[in-house]
Amino acid sequence: MKRAIYPGSFDPMTLGHLDIIKRASEIFDVLIVSVLNNKEKTPLFSVEERVIILKEATKDLPNVQVDSFSGLLINYAAEKDLHIAVRGLRAITDFEYELQLAQVNRLLSKGELDTVFLTTSLEYAYLSSSSVKEIASFGGDISQCVPDFVAKKIYEKFNAKR
Ligand code: PNS
Repeated sequence: MKRAIYPGSFDPMTLGHLDIIKRASEIFDVLIVSVLNNKEKTPLFSVEERVIILKEATKDLPNVQVDSFSGLLINYAAEKDLHIAVRGLRAITDFEYELQLAQVNRLLSKGELDTVFLTTSLEYAYLSSSSVKEIASFGGDISQCVPDFVAKKIYEKFNAKR
């Protein structure tokens, strides 16, 4: 069984993330999408809310599981006996960060965790969770960026803050 992990912040999950999830789920027998519980950041959605969103969005993908993790990715991957991380590459601007992350993970795990990159579909190349949040915070249209049920949740968050 080829199993892989797709780690990320997913605050919130965008259509770009979902595109990577769908494509990776066709490559691997099992894909574990795992949300980083990063105590240093102040997220829009709690880890639990992000997990619920991912579960709902992937409910028709039977080989996709959703989980969360804290601390180093290599430790979580080792616990789960996972040796491949999937990451999406949107543009050259992602490359340096992603290269560093992949190399650090490979080094720290002594080669136990390798990274596979999928290039983002062109229609999502401009998309990021932070731009989605910024657009929504000003009441802009995010219907092309996230599934409808996620857009609703994002607007609810910003309305509650006002
Ligand atoms: O969606 P993101 O924020 O680009 O995802 C980044 C993520 C979660 C993959 C990365 O920050 C991560 O794995 N963090 C866990 C801590 C860790 O293992 N860091 C690697 C050493 S720098």
